Amino acid sequence: MYLKRHLQSFFSRRPRRLTSQAAYDLWAAHYPAAAHNRLMQVEQAALLALLPALAGCTVLDLACGTGRYARLAQAGGAARVLGTDHSLAMLRGMATPAALAEMAALPLAAASVDVVLCGLAVGHVPRLRPIFGEISRVLRPGGCALLSDLHPFQALQGAQRTFTTADGRTFAVEHYLHLMQDYHQAAQSTGLSIDSVAEPALAERGPAPVVLVVRLGKQALTTAG
Ligand SMILES: C[S@@+](CC[C@H](N)C(=O)[O-])C[C@H]1O[C@@H](n2cnc3c(N)ncnc32)[C@H](O)[C@@H]1O
Repeated sequence: MYLKRHLQSFFSRRPRRLTSQAAYDLWAAHYPAAAHNRLMQVEQAALLALLPALAGCTVLDLACGTGRYARLAQAGGAARVLGTDHSLAMLRGMATPAALAEMAALPLAAASVDVVLCGLAVGHVPRLRPIFGEISRVLRPGGCALLSDLHPFQALQGAQRTFTTADGRTFAVEHYLHLMQDYHQAAQSTGLSIDSVAEPALAERGPAPVVLVVRLGKQALTTAG
């Protein structure tokens, strides 16, 4: 009897896990297009530190949500900014043109983008390779992509990605572990190279990195002679 009650209370404390699309459709109305917690603040600072100059560039905010990076790209002088996401509700917050699309199936022409920015989204997908394949296809030679995600240390320590709705219900969002070797293999097999990595920690939580930021490059074309 005691064990049954204990198990019931344990499981009732575990938030129900939603697919990414269902979770963000529910979360969208309260999802600001700005870094809204400490983890996002260190993630954004680390990603922006690796960003090239955007003046004149076409920038894709991949899995843009409500458009945090699209806004920053526009403020940074990008000539053209697009966003894509698989949650229609999240896209309603976008201030720049946006399309409903899976990360692994983008409605964009090959070699049409200079810079891809992708904040805190690749962990919602079980395999990196299909996403890297699309990034490689849409990037112009010489272009780059900056991706951030919850650091694998955090996922291995059992950290969950959760949110609470306005009426007080807490849910977990699907999340998949991607180790550095997974990033290397996905990059290598899609013609991308890992140019830089940042692993910022939160000073108040100790030395363990909370976020992984990876900068990928697509090799520029060289002319013979
Ligand atoms: C944590 S939010 C981040 C939003 C935004 N990139 C930012 O940094 O503020 C993750 C976003 O990824 C989107 N997403 C997750 N999996 C996706 C997929 N397979 N294809 C497209 N969008 C996806 C979600 O809908 C959500 O908007």
